[in-house]
Amino acid sequence: MEQIAYVNGSFVPMADAKVSILDRGFLFADGIYEVAAVLDGKLIDNASHLARLERSVGEIELALPETIERIQEIQKELVSRNNLVNGMVYLEVTRGADTGRDFAFPKGVKPTLVMFTSVKDIINAPSAKTGIAVITVPDLRWTRRDIKSVALLAQVLAKQAAAAAGAGEAWMIEDGKVTEGGSSSAFILTQDDVLVTRQNGSEILPGCTRKAVVKLAEERQLRIEERAFTVEEALAAKEAFITSASVFVQAVVSIDGKKVATGKPGPMTDRLREIYVEFAKATAV
Ligand code: PDD
Repeated sequence: MEQIAYVNGSFVPMADAKVSILDRGFLFADGIYEVAAVLDGKLIDNASHLARLERSVGEIELALPETIERIQEIQKELVSRNNLVNGMVYLEVTRGADTGRDFAFPKGVKPTLVMFTSVKDIINAPSAKTGIAVITVPDLRWTRRDIKSVALLAQVLAKQAAAAAGAGEAWMIEDGKVTEGGSSSAFILTQDDVLVTRQNGSEILPGCTRKAVVKLAEERQLRIEERAFTVEEALAAKEAFITSASVFVQAVVSIDGKKVATGKPGPMTDRLREIYVEFAKATAV
């Protein structure tokens, strides 16, 4: 079956899903994106993703071309038209295509809204059992990482370095501390059983999965500290893991070739993954 994408009001075959070369997403990375997981044909934690979308577009003064309610309807229709069972919906909104290349915001230009789906069995991904290796790289990004901008070149380079090293993610380092993964939030479990993840702020993206995991852990009386941590702390930790819409909760078993604890996914990571999946299924729309 041919994949169906959404482009500015129409559902079209992927081969016909096109935007102008003058689109500001293409020219300036002047756009915002979101990725929501799909389990059993339903959207996971989507209200959180759409709330972050609203916040991100607000921060760059970009008006959404559709209401949040309509965007969710389009996401659902796209899932249905693609018969998507397990995977992801990618959504991008840009400041649209003007008649030329002026840096300042154009007047009277309608934003571009596109979406497409991809198939992924997040629950049964082999790395969910084995965990992943991470490498560390300098954090080369701009200083408004709280905005989910499509300007992802630093992450592309970080994740390419990880792929080249046979690792599953790159942890980005700034001032000696881990900011986050190339496309995920970073957590450790200390020897005295405190979950540590960096506090939200302009240095990291406020992860939707991070937020849900912190809340679920708090509800279970786990101790949580929202603060930055070093690679040395992570290597001395009991467990380490990442969270994102595309992996949920995923163990990190080595950092720059050095084992985290036993080099196997730890029991807390496995448990938090189960708890997250339960939450995801129970709240899917
Ligand atoms: N990335 N940090 C960064 C830099 C990210 O790009 C992402 C998500 C996260 C995790 O956020 P969430 O839990 O809301 O997915 C943290 C998506 C999945 C991507 O770029 O594909």
